[in-house]
Amino acid sequence: MSDLLAPTTLRCEYKTNPLGIDLPAPRLSWVLESPEQGAIQTASQVAAGSWDSGKVITPQSVSVAYAGPALASGQYVSWQVRVWDGNDRVSEWSEPAFWQMGLRADADWTAEWIGLPPGRPGIDQNPSPFLRRAFRIEKPLTRATVYATARGVYTLHLNGQKVGDDHFAPGWTDYARRIQYQTYDVTELIRQGENVAGAVLGDGWYAGYIGWGSKRTHYGSRLQLLAQIVFEYADGSRETLGTDGEWRGATGPILASDMLMGETYDARLEMPGWSAAGFNDGVWKPVTTEAAHDPAILRVAQIDPPVRVTEEIAPIAVTQPAPGTSLFDLGQNMVGWARLKVSGPAGTIVQMRFGEMLLDGSLYVDNLRAAKATDTYILSGSGAETYEPHFTFHGFRYVEVTGYPGAPGLDAVTGCVLHSDTAKTGTFECSDPLVNQLVSNIDWGQRGNFLSVPTDCPQRDERLGWMGDAQIFVRTAAANRDVAAFFAKWMHDVTDAQSPEGGFSDVSPRLVDLADGAPAWGDAGVIVPWTVYQVYGDTRILETHYPAMVRWMDYLDSANPSHLWLNQRVNDFGDWLSVDADTDKDVLATAYFAYDASLMAQIAAVLDRAEDAARYQTLFASIKTAFNAAYVGEDGSVRGETQTGYVLALRFNLLPDALRPLAARRLVQNLEARKSHLSTGFVGVGYLCPVLTEAGYSEVAYTLLLNTTFPSWGYSIGQGATTIWERWDGYTPEKGFQDAGMNSFNHYSLGSVGEWLQRFVAGIDAAAPGFARVHLQPRPDRRLSFVRASFESVRGRIESAWTLSGETFALHVAVPASTAATVVLPDGRTHEIGSGVYDFTCRLT
Ligand code: BGC
Repeated sequence: MSDLLAPTTLRCEYKTNPLGIDLPAPRLSWVLESPEQGAIQTASQVAAGSWDSGKVITPQSVSVAYAGPALASGQYVSWQVRVWDGNDRVSEWSEPAFWQMGLRADADWTAEWIGLPPGRPGIDQNPSPFLRRAFRIEKPLTRATVYATARGVYTLHLNGQKVGDDHFAPGWTDYARRIQYQTYDVTELIRQGENVAGAVLGDGWYAGYIGWGSKRTHYGSRLQLLAQIVFEYADGSRETLGTDGEWRGATGPILASDMLMGETYDARLEMPGWSAAGFNDGVWKPVTTEAAHDPAILRVAQIDPPVRVTEEIAPIAVTQPAPGTSLFDLGQNMVGWARLKVSGPAGTIVQMRFGEMLLDGSLYVDNLRAAKATDTYILSGSGAETYEPHFTFHGFRYVEVTGYPGAPGLDAVTGCVLHSDTAKTGTFECSDPLVNQLVSNIDWGQRGNFLSVPTDCPQRDERLGWMGDAQIFVRTAAANRDVAAFFAKWMHDVTDAQSPEGGFSDVSPRLVDLADGAPAWGDAGVIVPWTVYQVYGDTRILETHYPAMVRWMDYLDSANPSHLWLNQRVNDFGDWLSVDADTDKDVLATAYFAYDASLMAQIAAVLDRAEDAARYQTLFASIKTAFNAAYVGEDGSVRGETQTGYVLALRFNLLPDALRPLAARRLVQNLEARKSHLSTGFVGVGYLCPVLTEAGYSEVAYTLLLNTTFPSWGYSIGQGATTIWERWDGYTPEKGFQDAGMNSFNHYSLGSVGEWLQRFVAGIDAAAPGFARVHLQPRPDRRLSFVRASFESVRGRIESAWTLSGETFALHVAVPASTAATVVLPDGRTHEIGSGVYDFTCRLT
């Protein structure tokens, strides 16, 4: 590496070389690398397409908005950046990167929706439509791009090959208002002469079962595809081929495919070569068409990372609990599907059922409620057959296989792990295996439940975008993986779900539970964008959703003139699933109202809306006064005296300074009275350890972390948990399974302690939005001898690794170029450092 500052890792809208950007001013970011300490960027120059920013004096390397000439639909923009360092030395130009614009204008869509003629009414599940069309290419091609979406979910095929490596496109949005389209570069798949484009459709969120109540077709029942291929020829001309009446369709081997119920696939009905030239589609029917334009529905480029298979898991054991039944154990509760390898006579029916737990050695499925989670494969008899389902996914550790010809070997089943492909950005490892398992469980819970939207659970008939779960987990999620684009997409679902009166919802997209948001649920509409701003420095998410947040505040404020949140709490879940401790719901609600107001004051300030900032500051002060008058005693007691009550009052800064230590002391006494055990549910759990640490009770927080008795994170791990459970006592040896009506073994909410591990135990925190300044303050505890953690921030990699031996604390940190950090050692000493690698030691006092 040269000793000059080097711009690397060029990204546009959080993505590397993205296709299908439909923002007029895409934001560019780069990471700066330098072998030197204290390296800074003092200026930059971006060259993007015909735009040259010239040398701009700025330290900004994140969210630099394109400011060149207007970009056309489909335009390919190549870009590079160079930077100047503190000595005004200019770097080399970076490696080139690019982005390609999407189909920005509705008028650019010339294709029509196509589908099969309506099937038999009343039929429970649709066989998947297969669609195809042949076309010819007669001129040398420079680029071919497909833009596509579906009502339902879809896969695209060209000349016999699947296009892209993503699944469940177009993703879940409120299809009555917004639908995402995908963009694929298919240049390599097109050849001169005859070509064939094809697609397969599945029910997905559009037409399939979602949530409880055994209801499907929430958005519509007719599966349709909308796609167009734009060909750019070497002679400079262009052509567009869109879905239209020329396409033909048929049903094939996918007899039924539903996210909750599973898939039935009859391999005898396969149509070899159906998406390649030379296939005889004489018996296929002409498709029906429908105009693509509907002014009520926004068609937008996909913002979030695609859903992909990111890992495969081999089973660790297979057993025969009953004759003819094989049970595969993957050793990890995961989300996705199983790939089946089988050979046998045509017509043999092999069934796979999926479950998270066993009961007496057999698959336990009671907690799936009405989700059948069953994949059925009917053999073609062609020899060695391999099957993966197309439009379903399951939450499972165990796969029960019946009907398998002979005894399946371990390799008959492979777990394919599926989720929104958010890059891993946080690592955390320490000397205690229990904590390391907890960290793994948190990540698995996040992976399994971040699938197009942040869902509560992946296995039962629910899988909804619960807002309370998301708001309490969002900071942990961002500590763990790059969720900027994921939440940027979901915030549109959140604001789409807002009621005309201004109520955010309990679930976004708003479906099944149609209520306006309960306290700590609806508030996600303010907390999530604020957190994304904190971690990624993203002001656009604040700007974009500010009007919706204002409406939410007006909605709360107008219904609650006393400034206690007493009205309009609708489902009023309270501190959901707490242990023997009912936090007063008025306290909880009012605390969140106050928190929203304080965040709104800060958000308004970031957006240069001074008047609003002052107004929300006043509102916050007024709620705080009302909160104290109604719920806080002079001795620092908070009405209801629960852990969550204290945690919220402290975390949201609702107490007068003089009462804070008293309230903290009461929180600790409450914990002591429970033999150092927590009693918080979803709402209190994420803030509990941070509040204890900040109040000077770090040791108590560590005790909670390391507990192995009920209720604790360690307790579920003791029971073999490989994901975070919905309930602290999802399974106990004494009582067995909790109520099957609500007992998920893959629910991320209680994993929100991950935030504390990164920000306090490892001590990696943002001192300014987007880690423009870093705060490094590890809080060691003698029960751990080392911690090694890292975080890939938008500005580059931050590391904190500490060891504790005897009285000696040693800290190794790394800070990316063009940022600076304050390091606070356990003995209280503070060091201001620039970028680079540093080591410190001190004695533990
Ligand atoms: C979900 C939770 C959700 C809750 C609302 C449950 O059914 O699984 O995660 O937050 O309902 O209280």
